[in-house]
Amino acid sequence: MVPFSLAVWLLLLPVLLQDAASSEAVCEAQAQRIIGGRPAPSDGLSWPWQVSIFYQGKHICGGALIAEKWVLSAAHCFPNFKMQTKHYVVVLGAYQLLNTSSNTVTSDIQRIILHPSYDSYDTPPPRGDIALVELKSPVSFTAYIRPICLPEASVQFSMEESCVVTGWGEIQPGVALPPPLTLQEVKVPLIDREKCNSLFNAAQREPPLYNPVGPGMICAGYQEGGKDSCQGDSGGPLACPYDGHWVLAGVVSWGIGCGRPGLPGVYSSVPFYATWISQHIPSMTFAMRGNGGVNGREQNSPAVILLLVFFALTLL
Ligand SMILES: *[C@@H]1O[C@H](CO)[C@@H](O)[C@H](O)[C@H]1NC(C)=O
Repeated sequence: MVPFSLAVWLLLLPVLLQDAASSEAVCEAQAQRIIGGRPAPSDGLSWPWQVSIFYQGKHICGGALIAEKWVLSAAHCFPNFKMQTKHYVVVLGAYQLLNTSSNTVTSDIQRIILHPSYDSYDTPPPRGDIALVELKSPVSFTAYIRPICLPEASVQFSMEESCVVTGWGEIQPGVALPPPLTLQEVKVPLIDREKCNSLFNAAQREPPLYNPVGPGMICAGYQEGGKDSCQGDSGGPLACPYDGHWVLAGVVSWGIGCGRPGLPGVYSSVPFYATWISQHIPSMTFAMRGNGGVNGREQNSPAVILLLVFFALTLL
């Protein structure tokens, strides 16, 4: 016969296991992948938040899955969005866009929310170049389809940190990625706004741009050029390691050419827009400064600890 206390424990076991599973924020699952270097890009599993946005059957932009029903992308990807929402689809879980597998899911779009400060008629550089794309229905997370953590507004990324930008954009200005359109990744360090502005101000160009990198932007790249995002990567993720997991630091926005020396790529800063994102998605959780956690995580921990204590007591 099973002793009473053990029977109680066994009854609670499924609850405990379920609790433990749900307490782990899904976007944290990539944590081990950072430690010990980058995974091989060929497995198609490295960047499960990367999505492609198709317009009339063709890849036009990237995006990042941030929740079951939401993708973050760039506002300039949707120039006439009101009329054309039905012409766009989101492709998730893809690695080679022209050689997709059963892991790939295509979703229609419910709604596109452009940041209110974005104006497609503004003179460049674009302000508020960020957009929330709501999917028609929630996607199921798999090894190939998983959201990336979002940083809270107070998060400051270390400038020494190497981040990774991914996409299916051009491999050189005017040179499209060849078939079967295999997802590309490139490691780029962040460059702070002040330094980035001084680089742009020093560049000889007509018409000159003065301090073009606004408060909602962050730069990434190399002073010597050569590695950068390009046309077609727009809206795609700039992911940075933060407290042991990948966090979405930026959204590919603009540049002058691609990979030119002294002209880094410019990204919409995700911490800068965190408040706007939470206004539209109140249930969204954010990676916070300091504790390395993701909001949803702590809520369940006390229950798990209590049950563990209880289990220990039943063993006595
Ligand atoms: C298409 O994808 C499969 C795996 O899903 C791979 O084995 C094959 O090499 C790919 N084809 C090309 C042309 O890369």
